[in-house]
Amino acid sequence: MSRAYTNSSSVARAYDNWTNDALLERLWGDHIHLGHYGSPPRRRDFRGAKVDFVHALVRWSGLDKLPRGSRLLDVGCGIGGSARILAADYGFDVLGISISQAQIARAKALTPEQLSDHCHFAVMDALALGFDDHRFDAVWSVEACPHMADKQRYADELLRVLRPGGLLAVADWNRRDDTQTPLSPLERWVMRRLLDDWAHPEFASIEGLRGHLQDSNHADGVRVAIADWSKPTLPSWIDSILEGLRRPAAVLGLGPRGVVLGLREVPTILLMHWAFTTGLMQFGVFKGQKPG
Ligand SMILES: C[S@@+](CC[C@H](N)C(=O)[O-])C[C@H]1O[C@@H](n2cnc3c(N)ncnc32)[C@H](O)[C@@H]1O
Repeated sequence: MSRAYTNSSSVARAYDNWTNDALLERLWGDHIHLGHYGSPPRRRDFRGAKVDFVHALVRWSGLDKLPRGSRLLDVGCGIGGSARILAADYGFDVLGISISQAQIARAKALTPEQLSDHCHFAVMDALALGFDDHRFDAVWSVEACPHMADKQRYADELLRVLRPGGLLAVADWNRRDDTQTPLSPLERWVMRRLLDDWAHPEFASIEGLRGHLQDSNHADGVRVAIADWSKPTLPSWIDSILEGLRRPAAVLGLGPRGVVLGLREVPTILLMHWAFTTGLMQFGVFKGQKPG
């Protein structure tokens, strides 16, 4: 079945399937994002690198300066891997939202009893957050923006619910800005595959998303700092394939279907690796404090 983006239901369907077939979780654990391997990147366990990514983004964005009990919204929370770390290790009161019902059910099931007072999950569209303005002390969103057809609205919603003085931490898969050097025919073909294979309507450039954040009606003058984490996250792509060889039981335990499902992802992962190596794609991170 095609996973090309048509609307937010196509994204929800793709993640419901990825969650229900269980392969991703069996292979990569409860984090559906890239790992951080340090600068320069060093050999590292894939799952450990994913946990390191969360702590690296917390430190880089200054979230570690927030007091325990701060209210944090995780937009596009997957099955809650990051939300549980943010609640358990930093003492935040976390609400994770996702467009996928299956992910939210799984996120709740994976959250241990002792965290359940501080780590909640709900099905919700990031483009229509059901909260009053200024509801959260921090807003966190990792690798969700590629699925948003309306990047400005995504930026508006993140900033609308952030209180004055609150902190923003965002990670995104970005395309290189092609206004100076247009994409070559090969790059255009790869880009089309990267979009259509995994339910992405479009990628923003790093400067483009920063512009959407700073120009938002809800920015209130926030200055957004950016960085390119393509290098420290790059080993993730090959590692995500190697995990299938390191943990054959994760794949084979699902029977022949597991092998078919796993092999389906390999060409896209290799194209992602190529795109992030050549600079066609970039891993952007964004932070800002709303003037308070
Ligand atoms: C690549 S996954 C990242 C998941 C999670 N942030 C993590 O790091 O493990 C992208 C996430 O964005 C969510 N998402 C995509 N479009 C969304 C939308 N319109 N509203 C809410 N969540 C959305 C997906 O359901 C998924 O949970």
